[in-house]
Amino acid sequence: MQKNIIDTKKLEAVLKQAHSTAESDQSGANASYIPALAKVPSNLFGLTAVTADGTVLETGDSSYPFAIESISKVFSMALVMEAVGAQEMLKKVGADPTGLPFNSVMALELHRGKPLSPLVNAGAMATVSLLPAANADEKWQKILDGYSQFAGHSLEVMDAVYTSEAATNSHNKGIAWLMSSYGTLYDDPDTTCDIYTKQCSIAITCKDLAVMGSTLANGGVNPITGKAIINPEFLPHIFAEMTMEGLYGASGDFAYTVGLPGKSGVGGGLLAVVPGQLALSAFSPRLDPIGNSVRGQKAMRFISDALDLSLY
Ligand code: DON
Repeated sequence: MQKNIIDTKKLEAVLKQAHSTAESDQSGANASYIPALAKVPSNLFGLTAVTADGTVLETGDSSYPFAIESISKVFSMALVMEAVGAQEMLKKVGADPTGLPFNSVMALELHRGKPLSPLVNAGAMATVSLLPAANADEKWQKILDGYSQFAGHSLEVMDAVYTSEAATNSHNKGIAWLMSSYGTLYDDPDTTCDIYTKQCSIAITCKDLAVMGSTLANGGVNPITGKAIINPEFLPHIFAEMTMEGLYGASGDFAYTVGLPGKSGVGGGLLAVVPGQLALSAFSPRLDPIGNSVRGQKAMRFISDALDLSLY
């Protein structure tokens, strides 16, 4: 349903109200399985909205850099679709929720190595493996450049996060090798897992995340730089997948209560997109047991209710 363009004065006020409402929630905990993420100050909390015509509204710790983590999966999905097409992604990776945690090996075993979704770890690695490139360096540059185009400036890896993740990612390496054994990974498992780990370690701010999302909201054109980044024909597939698996086992809850395509990361980031209108981003490191930012979800619910943003 096409809705009226958002009233930015009202949006700004709602963003501030959402921040003060969700701020009092001290529940949840930083991700601890990646040591560098456990050290991020837990009380940070930022919110940003970027409209499809490029208005930026921010509140709280919206310029604090944090690791993009699983939110990266959305942007790699977009870049790889651009390279191989939507049908190839559907056939080789899939587009269904797994009903299991984001790093589940059982989910893979249940489907003979097909990851089902580009938004779980297995599917994100399958997605990376599908990106055509002459070698690992070229593949990594394509990913980093692509994300930077979405953000509208050059992004960089947080070295401390990458080092920490690379030293502790044996579970993801296991997933990559398991897929390789099933023939559902399309490049070298160690190289693929390393590139995936690096993409998760890219530093973004809440503002960067909302600009990246606003590029999706704005038909694939970054509203700040005016550059076309992704073919709009892929956007419905990306939004559908974000709805189905963007918050893993809480995706249904998010669709029910917020009603927008979303994506979380264990760095505490959360993105929601109102197609055609705006993107909302949150950063708050305390996570629920599924791995989604507690305050981020609370703030998104508040904003969606206050502005009647649900697509349903
Ligand atoms: O692969 C991992 O476990 C992390 N680099 C990313 C996981 C993640 O962000 C899950 N999302 N909430």
